[in-house]
Amino acid sequence: MKQVQIHWPDGLNTQVTCGTAWLAAARAAGVTIPTGCLGGSCGACEIDVNGTTVRACIATVPASRSGALNVELASDPYW
Ligand code: FES
Repeated sequence: MKQVQIHWPDGLNTQVTCGTAWLAAARAAGVTIPTGCLGGSCGACEIDVNGTTVRACIATVPASRSGALNVELASDPYW
């Protein structure tokens, strides 16, 4: 399986297999993505992946041509 390097907020980096659920990848990195419905409708779990908004609860880590993905949390974790 293809691996991709994920750059999380706060300078964390992890190596993840493409196709891993975003929430699982975040948990493995020690990053908390806020969640609500877990069904793709509320938007609480939105993250920014290379500038594209993704609903983490229903999406998986995609392949990246550069081999790396930059993740920003769309919502303030201290909100
Ligand atoms: S938790 Fe509601 S859209 Fe992901």
